[in-house]
Amino acid sequence: MKTRLPVRQAILDRQTYDAPAEGREGKIRLDFNENTSGCSEAVRRAIAKISAKNLAMYPEYAQPTKRIARHLGVRPAELLLTNGGDDALRVFFDTFVEPSSSILICEPTFPMYRYYAEIAGAKIDTLRYDSSMKFPLVDALVALRKKPRVFFLANPNNPTGTLVPAQEIRAILQAAGDTAVVIDEAYAEFSGATVLPWIRTFPNLFVVRTFSKAAGLASLRLGAVMAHPDSLAFLRRAMPPFPVNLAAMVAAEAALSEGSAIKKYVRATVRVRTEFAKELSRLGVTVFPSAGNFLLADFGAQGPALFAALAKSGILVRERTKDMGAGFVRITIGSKPEMKRFQQVAKRFAAKSGGKFS
Ligand SMILES: Cc1ncc(COP(=O)(O)O)c(C=O)c1O
Repeated sequence: MKTRLPVRQAILDRQTYDAPAEGREGKIRLDFNENTSGCSEAVRRAIAKISAKNLAMYPEYAQPTKRIARHLGVRPAELLLTNGGDDALRVFFDTFVEPSSSILICEPTFPMYRYYAEIAGAKIDTLRYDSSMKFPLVDALVALRKKPRVFFLANPNNPTGTLVPAQEIRAILQAAGDTAVVIDEAYAEFSGATVLPWIRTFPNLFVVRTFSKAAGLASLRLGAVMAHPDSLAFLRRAMPPFPVNLAAMVAAEAALSEGSAIKKYVRATVRVRTEFAKELSRLGVTVFPSAGNFLLADFGAQGPALFAALAKSGILVRERTKDMGAGFVRITIGSKPEMKRFQQVAKRFAAKSGGKFS
């Protein structure tokens, strides 16, 4: 149908919308970096206890924010809860980015930075990880001289799994001046690395976290931005009044107060990741060291056929063939049995060519 609706130019210019995959239930889901074992029982019990009256009320934020802040080691004024990490990222555009102002990212990275930048009609300055997935610090310091409004840096980065050392982030923050530096720590529980305490030193630092990964609450959509209260105040002005639902906050509190379940899952995931990486290396696959609950691998020319075989066996992975090269794939680290299933399919496949991917 032809329409003359007054659609914004940035939306007309946007070619794509890739709807997320559906029909994943029951499969081995190594494609979204979820906690594939599910959240803890304490979370389920806490959600079940929410009363009908409370469900019918608009949520109140002061008390849950106070409790979640305490668990995260910040003051309530330093914490903003958002509708998932994705939504936390969107708020930076609403707060800082005018159409045609620029943002800085380092690709390959989490696609939502580019996604929101396109919607905002922003210019996207792009750095690149090199072929060994090393972060280009010098290029970043040069690019910051152009004063982008926001620099988004995922640490560990998705999909490379790489971690930018703390002293390099310090150099970025010092060079960034008035640029808002967003350190996206969606996988901090797995890396054990954080620059969160620095929000008290650098007013241009914003740390983003999510409850979708280690805490296993992806369906509830809860994220957080932490920053100096004066800086966070600008983001608050760009927020709707009820951005986060009650169940998400109740679940997050339960997950954090029973932190041992998260720690146990993280420890198991790191252990399985190490074993799985070794196993892939033995099969001749190039594996990039990862600090997250996933890893990036290059299966070479046989990659695409293997990915098709995995899909046929009900194993979902995130192919990076389009943007990184034919054999590239990001694989979420699931449970030990799930990774064994992957290995069985990969070994069977490699057996056809002398037992190795080349
Ligand atoms: C680097 C990074 N940031 C943020 C997110 C957003 O997670 P969510 O919107 O589920 O909180 C993800 C999810 O994959 C991610 O990989």
